[in-house]
Amino acid sequence: MKRPIAHRALAGLAFALLALTGCTPKAGDDTDATTSAPITPSLIPAPAALQTGEGAFDITADTRLAASGEAATRVAQQFATYLQSAGGPALATTQDTGKGAIRFVLEPDATDKNPEAYALDVTPDGVTVKAHDERGLFYGAVTLWQLATQGDKSGVTLPALHIEDAPRFGWRGFMLDPARHFQQVDDVKKIIDAMALHKLNTLHWHLTDDQGWRIEIKQYPKLTDIGGCRIPAGDGGKDPTTGEPRPYCGFYTQDQIRDVVKYAAERHITVVPEINVPGHATAAIAAYPELGSIDTPLVPSNEWGVFPNLVNVEEGTITFFENVLGEVVTLFPGTYVHIGGDEAVKDQWEASAREQARMREVGAKTEMDLQGYLVGRLEKYLATHGKRLIGWDEILEAKLPPEATVMSWRGIEGGLQAARQGHDVVMSPSSKTYLDYLQTASPNEPPGRPALITLQDVYGFDPVPTELEESQRHHILGIQANLWTEHTRTFARLQHNAFPRLAAVAETGWTPAAKKDFANFTARLPAQLKRYDAIGLGYAKTPFEAMIATEDDRKAGTAKITLSNPLGYAVRYTTDGSEPKATSPAFTTPLDVKLPATVRAAAFAEGRALAPASTFELTPASLLSRTDEAMAVCPDAGRLLLRLEDDGPADGERAIFNATIFYPCWQWNQADLDGIASIKVRAGRIPYYFQLAHDEPSRNFEPAKSPLGELEILGGGCTGRTLATVALPAAPDADGFLDLEAPLPAGTTGRQDLCVRFTGDTRPQMWVLDRITLQPQ
Ligand code: ACM
Repeated sequence: MKRPIAHRALAGLAFALLALTGCTPKAGDDTDATTSAPITPSLIPAPAALQTGEGAFDITADTRLAASGEAATRVAQQFATYLQSAGGPALATTQDTGKGAIRFVLEPDATDKNPEAYALDVTPDGVTVKAHDERGLFYGAVTLWQLATQGDKSGVTLPALHIEDAPRFGWRGFMLDPARHFQQVDDVKKIIDAMALHKLNTLHWHLTDDQGWRIEIKQYPKLTDIGGCRIPAGDGGKDPTTGEPRPYCGFYTQDQIRDVVKYAAERHITVVPEINVPGHATAAIAAYPELGSIDTPLVPSNEWGVFPNLVNVEEGTITFFENVLGEVVTLFPGTYVHIGGDEAVKDQWEASAREQARMREVGAKTEMDLQGYLVGRLEKYLATHGKRLIGWDEILEAKLPPEATVMSWRGIEGGLQAARQGHDVVMSPSSKTYLDYLQTASPNEPPGRPALITLQDVYGFDPVPTELEESQRHHILGIQANLWTEHTRTFARLQHNAFPRLAAVAETGWTPAAKKDFANFTARLPAQLKRYDAIGLGYAKTPFEAMIATEDDRKAGTAKITLSNPLGYAVRYTTDGSEPKATSPAFTTPLDVKLPATVRAAAFAEGRALAPASTFELTPASLLSRTDEAMAVCPDAGRLLLRLEDDGPADGERAIFNATIFYPCWQWNQADLDGIASIKVRAGRIPYYFQLAHDEPSRNFEPAKSPLGELEILGGGCTGRTLATVALPAAPDADGFLDLEAPLPAGTTGRQDLCVRFTGDTRPQMWVLDRITLQPQ
């Protein structure tokens, strides 16, 4: 069992090298004016057209919601519920459309207008939301809700305005992954509400993968009985008292699925289920081994990555998945069913006489053609049920029925190619829309992939490639963000990863491209955060934190400090230990401080701190210590840097480590070694739980020189002089950590790039750096 870390975050200079990455244009408002009534509408996504008017309309507890007819009444009541859930007054719905009312008007229109379009008028006499379809009326209600919740309290003053609005794209999506870590139904509904309040309309539900099968299929109960549980790797998979295996389980019953689908439909969100074949199918094969391509029995995996396991393409297997889809199509009324198709490495089919024979039988020249044959069969089956197939962009690598839609994730190239071939496309490139990548360089980020996808990166992505011919652009259905959950074990972390980046996706999906402007978006964002707070939606505070970078002069006992905010909001600070306020000095130029010093700082907009103040305790000792987050990746360490959670304790908070899994190595650039006698290294240990398929040869750790490997510290970088070598023990201490002390050779001086690495195979367990401390003579 491993002890959780005690307060790693904000522990002083340890992360001095972070910050100042990805600087963005300055967010608009750094004034301190406190306004009571919000006058400038801060809407996200920005509407297509908005004109402000004269005066305002006050919503009070007496304001009536007027609607006639079932659909308009339904929308009025949804508005009332959302307003109340944000702390606003409880408003009654009537049919009285008199003065002082908020009117919801549905005017069916025979012309082929966008069903998601609406118009909204606010005048001092009343408010009218108008649309010709219930969907549009709902989005008008969402805009009205945003106007009513952008101030300090709900039930407020709405500025007079006129909005004419309709979305740019019909597919404004978000993908949720319950296969790796499961979300309870209430949490899925919370996401659905949050999506609706961003005018997102498609929930892609990734229901099956190697680590879990999450949808009840009546005909095949073992899919969830066996495929719904895995034993997590390491301490997290053991009962802490008995040591017995403790499975991680979860699936949605068909009743729960129907409930979620209905809940989403009421909020005009279509749920697209994904049943992934032929790869990412270990859980299914574990449940029904006859589906597999090898004879070795499998279990639902507790590792992450790309697995070799593929389903076979026998008639029996095709029938099995047709039967699965037969149940799926009755549960999901939407047009699309996602069949996966990604990362299906073909080694098992290449090695299988049975699959090779099957290839000849169906006329497949390559293994990819065999995948194409499977996709084609499933497409045909879905078409007979009035459904359309969508799959990851790998499905393009074989012959693809023209009706199939492609979800472009390996960049935009697949989408571009698919659109040129006449396929519809949803753009969700991993480099711009994958929300398991971290969003800032803050040490307070949760586990995930540390290559940053900042809010600005997400916002800046346009799903229509400029190189795509005008005549093919209609094939781009829209944009989708995907939240893979390998490293996202809790719902709080899931919300952190999703918001506010999903707000950027929503704006790209809805707002005309010409109206998008990142500085303007960040100026509207503080109002959105208030809404999140009001409805209890979790979101990342990290983009709204103050960050610090320091240049220290240990001999002089001083440091030069630069404060910043990742989104460019004004940073205000104190040096007397007090909480920074809207009247505290704004950081403009680097500060020289004498140590010890306490710097407290926060990012401000609209006269308030956007996140809790950061406290930086700068002491002579803190200059000598650095955590893994503050260390650089060693050159040639491979590109797979991950921010990984410790495997234990089974319950409670766990330590988090930044580690390159191909080569456990960290570098402290330009460490000042003058007067340093030894180096203390604190390390943790985690299971190596990665499947890399064809990337496996990229693992290039240093060979061990003794049976259990060693800690090596080098000066002058990783190809420099070895300063210390300490043999590693078989296991960490009882608390899960290991403390090692490495004396430095006499005469080690000057500033040097300090390379810290563990030798030996990273399997089955891997040492990871927690903290390094320089110890003076
Ligand atoms: C994917 O990220 N493998 C679709």
